[in-house]
Amino acid sequence: MLVQIGAAGSRISTMTATVPAPLLSFLKQSGVALTLADATSEDFPLLFVNDAFCKLTGYGPESVIGQNCRFLQPPEGAGPVRERIRAYLANDANTTERFLLSNRRKDGTPFVNVLYMTKIFHGKTCVFVLGSQFDAARIDGRNDTLYDSALKDDVRQLSVIAGDTGFLMYGSIEALATSTALIAQSRGANQ
Ligand SMILES: Cc1cc2nc3c(=O)[nH]c(=O)nc-3n(C[C@H](O)[C@H](O)[C@H](O)COP(=O)(O)O)c2cc1C
Repeated sequence: MLVQIGAAGSRISTMTATVPAPLLSFLKQSGVALTLADATSEDFPLLFVNDAFCKLTGYGPESVIGQNCRFLQPPEGAGPVRERIRAYLANDANTTERFLLSNRRKDGTPFVNVLYMTKIFHGKTCVFVLGSQFDAARIDGRNDTLYDSALKDDVRQLSVIAGDTGFLMYGSIEALATSTALIAQSRGANQ
């Protein structure tokens, strides 16, 4: 069930989530793949995906809104990282994290997804989770830097928009490994 934020900050269960319009406009126009999930529903259904996400994955919004984003994982599963994502989502003290995992596009082609996630709070309640997806194969020493800096800019601006509309984003993307470092770490861990 999705939620609406009441005028006094109370949560009202409805079938329609209220994502602040300025936040939505920003997500829409971003060139970085962005997804927004409802953190108040048990299975984190997607509320919004932008064009960059659709371009990366081949899925249109109509087929993914209302679904959990695990549909991108291959039938054999994404491995132990899934457990780490679950642990991240279950603990609101973990505000921001990055993961590397196997995904598939709609046409079945595999890609390694550099997944960034951060939480958006209303008061003390986590109401939305923002995700950003990036194809690790595009990492060539230039694209990854461009992506990381575009994502950082977006997160900074989103944090301001969230604040202006009564929401809060904690944690800083600067504190996390860059895409390149994350991939290097995972190569080391798999050796
Ligand atoms: C906003 C958001 C975006 C996500 N994006 C992806 C994604 O791009 N690819 C993916 O495999 N999982 C993604 N996930 C993670 C899955 O939805 C799910 O949380 C994960 O598979 C662990 O839970 P499970 O073991 O119940 O599937 C995302 C989750 C959220 C909340």
